[in-house]
Amino acid sequence: MLGGERIEGSVRVDAAKNAVLPILAASMLADGEVTLRRCPDIRDVHAMTGILEKLGCESAWQGDDLTLKNTRLHNWEMPDDLFKQIRSSIFLLGPILGRLRRATVTYPGGCEIGLRPIDLHLKGLRALGVRIVDADGILYCDGRDMRAGDVYFDYPSVGATENVMMAAALLDGVTTLHNAAREPEIEDLERFINRMGGKVRGAGTQLIEVEGVKRLHGVAYTPIPDRIAAGTLLCAAAVTGGEIRLENVRPVDLVPIGAKLGEMGCRISEEGDAMILEAPKRLNAFTRLQTQPHPGFPTDMQPQMLAVSCIAKGTSVIEENVFENRFTQVGSLTQMGANVRVSGRMAVVQGVEQLHGMRVAARDLRGGAALVLAGLCAHGETVVENAEFIDRGYARLEDTLCALGAKVERVTI
Ligand code: UD1
Repeated sequence: MLGGERIEGSVRVDAAKNAVLPILAASMLADGEVTLRRCPDIRDVHAMTGILEKLGCESAWQGDDLTLKNTRLHNWEMPDDLFKQIRSSIFLLGPILGRLRRATVTYPGGCEIGLRPIDLHLKGLRALGVRIVDADGILYCDGRDMRAGDVYFDYPSVGATENVMMAAALLDGVTTLHNAAREPEIEDLERFINRMGGKVRGAGTQLIEVEGVKRLHGVAYTPIPDRIAAGTLLCAAAVTGGEIRLENVRPVDLVPIGAKLGEMGCRISEEGDAMILEAPKRLNAFTRLQTQPHPGFPTDMQPQMLAVSCIAKGTSVIEENVFENRFTQVGSLTQMGANVRVSGRMAVVQGVEQLHGMRVAARDLRGGAALVLAGLCAHGETVVENAEFIDRGYARLEDTLCALGAKVERVTI
């Protein structure tokens, strides 16, 4: 990509990856066909449907609608290779157990951004009576004695909250989740389960109640828009002194991101489900960005904000509190001329006037997006290798950016 072009124009935001993935898992609970409207064409969605097909489901795309039929769901052994590709496949455990009362999975390994254990998922499922045996990294889960119950999360894990909600949806009685995660995608999962005939209440708060029902039926559903993809595009406009109008967003979900970009001098306004950002010529540093579970600042936007702060006037301080290793892109940014010091969970960014284009490599999804943002404002040409990481969560990001005036192309080596 060639840096320096101003991002300008209007773009429609797709459905959220982190809403679609658990919803795809939850569709295993339905007796009948589920259609997800405006489903994003991203690698993680394809990886998830690949796993569902191995379990006996059928999936079909029609335009950007994705339909799943699970009438032949029979296999409770999750495929090792695909399962390792996509960590969020862990929350298939809940629905498969809820439906088939048995599940076998390989313990997912660590990943680029941190260790990501699954103890909270397992503890939650055990509280519902699932017997889990770990034999050499393979988890044999027996859910024949599953029953509704009380689950307390030591930490509000997004995936564990979703897993337990799904496991409980078909259990007799009321399951109560305490200290649940409150992300908007959890509210969307509640809406989806309820649209299938389920009885879930409280999502978006720390206390969620799932009243089990006998069966759930098929449904056509439109998941919420992607606040992280939206935030990344706002950053693209911010970092190039541009102006962008995002259609199909939920402004309330973008409050933490908008607040930081506002601190940096961007003018942000809302018009219904549209959001407009106008960037100043030079951004100001923000005082302190701390990632937190929702409604705090989302960790999935931290790498992009760090990239933006690299060219802001002054010193920005970032504290990553959710994952252990989420500064993977900093080495590359430094090569591009950024001045960033990392110490444990803190990064201190001393803004510079200009970055310069380089050949750099993405090491994870959001870190990769951060490098693209750096490339958009850098002087000269930037090549971001390993673009497949970025494809996990952004549908043809290069096309979206080109339509907004950037000079980006995909090169196949
Ligand atoms: C989800 C999102 C991811 C986002 C994250 C935090 C999806 C598909 N992914 O991931 O994009 O970055 O929420 O907002 O929705 N933890 C444990 N034990 C567990 C589970 C988690 O210690 O059993 C720790 C993790 O290592 C991490 C923290 O809790 O440090 C947060 O993880 P969690 O909220 O579970 O994130 P995910 O559901 O994996």
